[in-house]
Amino acid sequence: MTDAFRHASLLSIAALNRLEAERILDRAQALWRDDFPRGEALRDRVVFNLFLEPSTRTRASFEMAAKRLGADVINVSDSGASTEKGESLIDTAATLDALRGDVIVLRSAAAGAAVAVDRAVRASVVNAGDGAHAHPTQALLDALTLLNRRGRVEGLRVAIIGDLAHSRVARSNVVLLHMLGAQVRVAAPPTLLPRDIESWGASVHADAAAAAADCDAVMTLRVQTERLSGPVFPSVREYAHFFQLTRAVMTRAKPGALVMHPGPMNRGVEIAPDLADDLEVSVISQQVSSGLAVRMAVLELVAEAAGGWDHPPARGSRARP
Ligand code: NCD
Repeated sequence: MTDAFRHASLLSIAALNRLEAERILDRAQALWRDDFPRGEALRDRVVFNLFLEPSTRTRASFEMAAKRLGADVINVSDSGASTEKGESLIDTAATLDALRGDVIVLRSAAAGAAVAVDRAVRASVVNAGDGAHAHPTQALLDALTLLNRRGRVEGLRVAIIGDLAHSRVARSNVVLLHMLGAQVRVAAPPTLLPRDIESWGASVHADAAAAAADCDAVMTLRVQTERLSGPVFPSVREYAHFFQLTRAVMTRAKPGALVMHPGPMNRGVEIAPDLADDLEVSVISQQVSSGLAVRMAVLELVAEAAGGWDHPPARGSRARP
């Protein structure tokens, strides 16, 4: 029998060890194989989707995942929420807690928001992206996509190209890929390389083609314009020349190497449209369906660890409001 999953919240990949990450991936893979079966694991539980930044796939897949597991799902977004009236995020989260929310799925523009909310509430918190900090379910769904397409993550060589400085997707992916035994290569314009890139443990390359060399998968990222205060490269044309993922770039990778993008895509900027649409190699849509499986698995496991409002809090310190 496997040990119980002990995390009542999922805030970052760094909070997991390899066995725990694999536990989520095993469960997600089973759900994916069974075509996301409807279940009862979250019956009588309330999931609040608190999305304070734009999102299509993450938000829709969390909502769908919670519904498939039988939860009551309530969507709260920035427009129309009391945060627009100046209420603090913590007060908004406390309100959802007072309504006996079992899980708060949080997307916020502020790095550290998920940790802060988790400290303040009794509910489980699942980080659906906090500023440039972390996006754990994205990294897990990318790993699931690699597992499903390549049968393993261990020993794979993966390139990540684009706006690494402002990307929570890149940060979470690098941690998880390393944890699972993959090698990571990166490329970005100097203005979009994080200051602490040395500590990432990834090899840094001058352009997309150099990073893609001999890779099993190449992931390209959107330039996070919402987090930029000014121009970071001379022109889109110049950016595309060095960093766009194209067929020519992919000829440097292993034959049949996978093309990945977390979405939303800016076609013609970080990815060539014909490559994005080439279903022989592009797994972009599969990443989205992997997301449903991963989010079902995460919700199931954290809800089980938390025990629900009818059970003593798994985390001891939290009092009911
Ligand atoms: C990413 C995000 O929001 O961090 N998208 C996603 O969750 N699928 C990447 C992005 O916005 O570029």
